[in-house]
Amino acid sequence: MNWRSIAARNPSTIELTVNKPPPLTARPAAPALPAGPSLPRPLLLGRFVLQPTSFLVDCERRYGEYFTLRLSDERTMVITSDPEAVKTVFTGDPERMHAGKNNEILRPLLGDRSVLLLDGAAHMRQRKLMLPPFHGERMKAYGETMRAVAERHVAAWPHGTGFPAAPSMQAITLEIILRTVFGLDDSARIERVGAPLRRLLDASASQLRLLALQITSSANPRPRSPWGRLNQLVADADQVVYEEIHARRAQADAAAHDDILSLLLEARDEEGEPLTDLELRDELMTLLLAGHETTATALSWTLERLVRHPAVVERLVAERRGEEDPAPYLEATIKEALRLRPVVTAVGRHLTAPLEVGGHLLPAGVTINPSIYLLHRRPDLYPEPEAFRPERFLENPPGTYQWIPFGGGVRRCLGASFALFEMRIVLQTVLDRVVLVPREDPDERVTRRAITFAPKRGARIAVEAA
Ligand code: HEM
Repeated sequence: MNWRSIAARNPSTIELTVNKPPPLTARPAAPALPAGPSLPRPLLLGRFVLQPTSFLVDCERRYGEYFTLRLSDERTMVITSDPEAVKTVFTGDPERMHAGKNNEILRPLLGDRSVLLLDGAAHMRQRKLMLPPFHGERMKAYGETMRAVAERHVAAWPHGTGFPAAPSMQAITLEIILRTVFGLDDSARIERVGAPLRRLLDASASQLRLLALQITSSANPRPRSPWGRLNQLVADADQVVYEEIHARRAQADAAAHDDILSLLLEARDEEGEPLTDLELRDELMTLLLAGHETTATALSWTLERLVRHPAVVERLVAERRGEEDPAPYLEATIKEALRLRPVVTAVGRHLTAPLEVGGHLLPAGVTINPSIYLLHRRPDLYPEPEAFRPERFLENPPGTYQWIPFGGGVRRCLGASFALFEMRIVLQTVLDRVVLVPREDPDERVTRRAITFAPKRGARIAVEAA
């Protein structure tokens, strides 16, 4: 039986079990899980995948700021919007809270050596090797490339007619990654490397395919099964990525380039060892997956918000005319977009030992998931949380554990500075080159796309000549 037939048999009035949460002051005696919905598994998974935000909001309303989702025998998640839990998770011992295990679904794409999949000492080694190329100051070296790519794509936008901005944002962020991370600079090569990567990313973006991958087995798949097709796309993408690695290793002047692959080729760990080809492949795929769709989605949401808030656009244009650098209102606008429409909506840590948090003693073996989505709409942290008001970041900036679109602790997004810088440059280019036409239609709904929560209609906008 699939989740649809179960949903049909169990109308939406299905009763959810409500157990009383323990009082917050009591010290829990034995590990126990907070209450949560007791829906049949396929229905639970279906709502979790297909109604990602409304399901979270419903659960929080019913069960409070901690609730449990039992998605499968191996996957029990405790979701929370409590800033104290965020602090506990980000400052806690990474040996007792594994993030890599929580990203298991990405293994077929990213490989065993991906920084996203590793934990403990192996994770720290890989992270240390990758950190220097992403240092905030270094990003400036990529500014010109980012602007040139954005200029070209924005110049091709139609004027006076509506279109979804998301495909253009994906094309911009993919090209930026291929140029700055992979170091490609001629368009034929960009197309040859980009096309199979794009096909792979598109295939892993579909919601139904995600659901199909979650409910079917990855072991010995037939060629036309969901896993069989995905494996073929991974093999095609691998071929071009390895070609790039080998070509770069063969180049005499590799060290003269300032792209991230060149820096990774030069990197050495504490024993003086470089990254192997396999490690480089896994990290390049990781940077591509983690860095491309996320930034494109964040840009799309920002545009989706801007066309519905002309006063914000007006203030951005005025700031741009003043050529203030850094541009505080633009920074605040980007932060507000990432607050209200976080593209990654939760960070997960698999507990290898019991964890006491918020009056609960959570058992080992479960995953604690601080929900970025729910945390960012707490009215006690963000008055009128649904309002898009960049000013709030200027008047009363949130604390470290209250605004977490890039996660935190030893797993904080490696590309946060890269993404913020790229968003700034792309948005400035849009403001410089076109006029955003205000829209009055309803806000776009949220849909899952690969690892992100994206605007359902692709962030429809219309522009006129500036
Ligand atoms: C707006 C854009 C982006 C968002 C919202 C975002 C968000 C995140 C989040 C939530 C995590 C998990 C953090 C945690 O578990 O605590 C993460 C990890 C990561 N991100 Fe990003 N990211 C973005 C852009 C990028 C870019 C541009 C790159 C690189 C080019 C990148 C590379 C990574 C890597 C390598 C990790 C794994 C870090 C680790 O496990 O140590 N991200 N990102």
